[in-house]
Amino acid sequence: MASHGNYRGYQGVSRHDGQNSASHVVDYRLQVLVDTLPDIFAGKDILDVGCNNGAISVHLGNTTCRICCPATVTGVDIDPELVKKARSHLSFRYSRTAPGETTTGNDPERNNYFPISSVMEHGHRPYPEDPVPTKFPRNVEFHCEDWAKTSISEAGSYDVVLALSMVKWVHLQHLDEVMTKGLREFFGKCHSSLRLSGYFVLEPQEWASYERAVKKNKSLGGNLQKLKIRPEHFESVLKEIGFNFLQKAEGKGLKRNIFIYQKK
Ligand SMILES: C[S@@+](CC[C@H](N)C(=O)[O-])C[C@H]1O[C@@H](n2cnc3c(N)ncnc32)[C@H](O)[C@@H]1O
Repeated sequence: MASHGNYRGYQGVSRHDGQNSASHVVDYRLQVLVDTLPDIFAGKDILDVGCNNGAISVHLGNTTCRICCPATVTGVDIDPELVKKARSHLSFRYSRTAPGETTTGNDPERNNYFPISSVMEHGHRPYPEDPVPTKFPRNVEFHCEDWAKTSISEAGSYDVVLALSMVKWVHLQHLDEVMTKGLREFFGKCHSSLRLSGYFVLEPQEWASYERAVKKNKSLGGNLQKLKIRPEHFESVLKEIGFNFLQKAEGKGLKRNIFIYQKK
């Protein structure tokens, strides 16, 4: 039972409306975010909370792909199996990229230079020695932790925090309040983790999705009854914490709203 939303096949077909979900296909939400706010990722340090199998973190960090070009990406997930998958996915993606630097835009040929069959036959390519960890794949790392619970070790270290389709699980598991390490604490931690003017990118699940989750995870039903904060209140909670609403991401194919907030 995926009681933290730790679905195994989440970053696959279901997210791509049945279109090609192969790992070289960029998650459409990233393209929409770049179209909405072109400077959102470039040169930035990014935290992807609830990174699942790492598909988004790896695409973000893959400078061969060049739609985003951040400096570093840190993915965090509560599920150790998913974090293992994410690390393996990073290594696999790196093994398929052409050696050397690229100066052109998004280049699927460089991105998929070595065929899958050759990676399967020869194994993954060892990572380059690189003491300055800003180049793919050294610019991407994954950690396994319950990010709602762990104390902030790196306050003010990120320019962008992504919380895509994951807040419902923190909310259902930990309730509303700071005392329970709940939603307010989580949003506060997102705020503290950001540098001044940093972006908090939130893709909240709608209330009906909470109700559906509880039908599948009966043990969370009691918690649902206790929640007073609902998704439509998030904006005012975030304002109290110190975020300004900046923009709603606009683009074709979004299944959920994505809101961009900025740290005051
Ligand atoms: C539904 S998936 C969304 C994955 C990804 N963010 C996306 O939108 O494609 C939710 C993810 O959040 C993770 N998660 C839930 N609660 C978490 C927590 N407290 N700390 C870290 N990760 C968490 C789950 O393990 C799962 O991988």
